[in-house]
Amino acid sequence: MDIGELRQMLDRTGQAHVLNFWDELDSEQQRELQAELQALNVEELNVVFRKAMDSFQQAARHEKVDARMEPVPRQVLGSATRDQDQLQAWESEGLLQISQNKVAVLLLAGGQGTRLGVSYPKGMYDVGLLSRKSLFQVQAERILRLQQMAEQRHGGTCTIPWYIMTSGRTMEATRAFFTKHGFFGLRQDDVVFFQQGMLPALSFDGKVILEGKGKVAMAPDGNGGLYRALATHCIVADMERRGVSLVHVYCVDNILVKVADPRFIGFCVQKGADCGAKVVEKTNPTEPVGVVCRVDGVYQVVEYSEISLATAQRRSPDGRLLFNAGNIANHFFTVAFLRDVVEVFESQLQHHVAQKKIPYVDPQGQLVQPDKANGIKMEKFVFDIFRFAKNFVVFEVLREDEFSPLKNADSQDGKDNPTTARHALMSLHHCWVLTAGGHFIDENGSRLPAIPRLKDASDSLIQCEVSPLVSYAGEGLEGLVAGKEFHAPLIIDENGVHELVSNGL
Ligand code: UTP
Repeated sequence: MDIGELRQMLDRTGQAHVLNFWDELDSEQQRELQAELQALNVEELNVVFRKAMDSFQQAARHEKVDARMEPVPRQVLGSATRDQDQLQAWESEGLLQISQNKVAVLLLAGGQGTRLGVSYPKGMYDVGLLSRKSLFQVQAERILRLQQMAEQRHGGTCTIPWYIMTSGRTMEATRAFFTKHGFFGLRQDDVVFFQQGMLPALSFDGKVILEGKGKVAMAPDGNGGLYRALATHCIVADMERRGVSLVHVYCVDNILVKVADPRFIGFCVQKGADCGAKVVEKTNPTEPVGVVCRVDGVYQVVEYSEISLATAQRRSPDGRLLFNAGNIANHFFTVAFLRDVVEVFESQLQHHVAQKKIPYVDPQGQLVQPDKANGIKMEKFVFDIFRFAKNFVVFEVLREDEFSPLKNADSQDGKDNPTTARHALMSLHHCWVLTAGGHFIDENGSRLPAIPRLKDASDSLIQCEVSPLVSYAGEGLEGLVAGKEFHAPLIIDENGVHELVSNGL
């Protein structure tokens, strides 16, 4: 398409304004803008916008979904606390599947991390652990340890391939980081990067937003962009070629994530599930977290904003919230189910509308940073496919063991930030050491009271970090710590147990 044809097409589709600064661009910038616009299917974009806005406005008009909601029934629910007698069996099943090379992990790392506010991918972030490991490194080492555990249990060697979804904004930096760090000890062939799609940000009336005179404001199409990306890059076929039949999907920002958690995998396998969600108990009715439940008999995630306070506050006879299955974007899928999704259901997934502050160039060509939402991004969600599952299950785990997301930059009294993530990991690891029979002592040699997990009490936080290469979930520490006393900060890694000089974190 030459520039004349491009101009005509943009006129026809109501997007001609994107060429407003054409004459001010140098030839290189013109070439880039032309390529960017040609790669967009503007007709389809206009249709996607209309559909997304229609369902957004319809949802706003409709009464809340409360009356149609039912909680997850006990028979599809497994619980790390209430089903303790079965945890060992589930774990064995999961480790068996891993040992047979049937399990892969898939990381959603295509987000922009705007709230955290760094210019590089979130997985590269260092929350200030004693080891200064990044989120990527922590996850890679959990994979390595799990492979080793499965091998020790069942013999032979095994591999957990790691599929990493990036976006146009995160791909290069992510790849470079892995290369620089030697893939953290994983085989390069077993780490597969692929890129999700991007869509332009639009004004409320559907006009493409420019973030520069010659640059469209592009954003990744949501973590549910996964399914289209799986198709584009033939990832399901790659899984099948490797003999993988079970996949654990998770988000990059959860520092406590148990990648390929054998208990979760084993539970899903023993239940014959094609799709599963790991959840944490929602305890506060006003916590703005989506809950997994059934609506008109179909599983989905209902956002906090979609229900009334009265429904959010409803309790079961046992005193827990009735709708308490808090979604943490941590899922199990069979590869067969993913194939159906990619081939049949993906096209039925709707984009959701997120109202955002999107920097834009005004008609005078000045870059403006808006202080309130001025447009939308259109996103699909990873959980949008629950409704297609034939056998959906839910696995409930303890938040303090498994969920501490990094969303925001540090601030006083902040939530989900580097400090809370660091503290969550250290509290958990402190707990592991105590459970394995270790003790912490203060500078006078007196034993510190074993009251771990004092939330947000940073001055009472015991700095303790266990390398994932040594322990995946607290196992195997007795030989190192039982009956011993330690000064914090304490780090346990593949070279042994080390007391560090306090660094005042
Ligand atoms: P969030 O919705 O929290 O977005 O992503 P984010 O990009 O991390 O942060 P903000 O909202 O810009 O501050 C949850 C998970 O989904 C992934 C993210 O990388 C994160 O692991 N994600 C999000 C994608 O993979 N693609 C997307 O388009 C959006």
